[in-house]
Amino acid sequence: MELLCIQSQEHPELPLAELKAVMECEDIDAEIEKVTEGLVILKDIPDDKLDEYYEILTRRLGYTHEVHQILARTDVDNLDEDVSKIDWAEWIDENFAVRVKRFNSQIDTVGTERHIGTLILDNTERIRVNLSKPKSLVRVVAHQNDLYVAIEKIKLNKKHFEDSKPHKRPFFYPGSMNPKLARCMVNLSRVKAGELLLDPFCGTGGILIEAGLIGCKVVGSDVYWKMKNGTAINLDYYGITDYRTFHLDVRELKMYEKVSSVVTDPPYGISTSTGDVDGEGIFEEFFHAIYDNMRDDAYLCMASPHYIDLKPMVDEVGFKIVEQYGIKMHKSLTRIISVIRKNLD
Ligand SMILES: C[S@@+](CC[C@H](N)C(=O)[O-])C[C@H]1O[C@@H](n2cnc3c(N)ncnc32)[C@H](O)[C@@H]1O
Repeated sequence: MELLCIQSQEHPELPLAELKAVMECEDIDAEIEKVTEGLVILKDIPDDKLDEYYEILTRRLGYTHEVHQILARTDVDNLDEDVSKIDWAEWIDENFAVRVKRFNSQIDTVGTERHIGTLILDNTERIRVNLSKPKSLVRVVAHQNDLYVAIEKIKLNKKHFEDSKPHKRPFFYPGSMNPKLARCMVNLSRVKAGELLLDPFCGTGGILIEAGLIGCKVVGSDVYWKMKNGTAINLDYYGITDYRTFHLDVRELKMYEKVSSVVTDPPYGISTSTGDVDGEGIFEEFFHAIYDNMRDDAYLCMASPHYIDLKPMVDEVGFKIVEQYGIKMHKSLTRIISVIRKNLD
């Protein structure tokens, strides 16, 4: 069985990297076929695992917009025959809409939607079209001459990423990253529901909100009491209950329990205060402070500006960088997202 993922194209690598990280930590056994940027198929999924995988992916992913079960792979010449072969009564609940999305394809979107809708109606009884509020969505993806006919069984909560933008939270302070990137970083850290995730520069709690929403236990600390308090206000607002917050300098960090994951956005530049440490110093001190608080198999995912070279710092402490991605913010700043582990070799 196959799942089709329609991904964000706002970054060339992060959406796929996030998907791979989730598959790795959730033991999702499937082959990845990248059709083109923004379109990925998970193949060879065991029948009895499909619904479980589907639920995990839709609950966790930030940079994936839609996940569908593929019912047929076809092309323009074989479309009628292949669509008619599908037992639509099994997939459609009362009413439906067909929506076509194109990737490098010239296909007539509206015409194809109407055509497939008619084919489905011709092959079923008591099923109606409902374009405004369909109970079932038939998603057809056209890529060059190929067509993927699929059904949406679980909708991703895209609205959440709009509703949780920093300025919409009860406690706001400038400098919080956008929630999709925060979710992606949580996922890159390979953490699972029920495990403990720490952000020792928690600020307004943007990263902890995303981790809490996928079911992690979360801990946040910040050198400023106001931030620690604001994080708690925001976590309460999003219904996250399994959390603790501390008012402390990262250099004094001594966790009550080793954590499974650290995801963080340390301060840099003139707009974010670093207590009394300057520039790169806080990064070095952070690596030293965090090492013993992490389990040996834990991952650290962090953001940093391109002009700070993390490599010598992580080497010195005994970490290793396993993945890095650049996000161009503006002409003179690229943000680097690094995935780091203990180097136990
Ligand atoms: C870039 S902000 C983090 C933003 C956060 N991800 C959010 O969603 O709001 C960095 C945070 O680190 C805190 N900070 C600065 N120096 C610190 C230190 N020495 N120990 C702990 N926290 C510190 C700042 O107060 C600030 O809230």
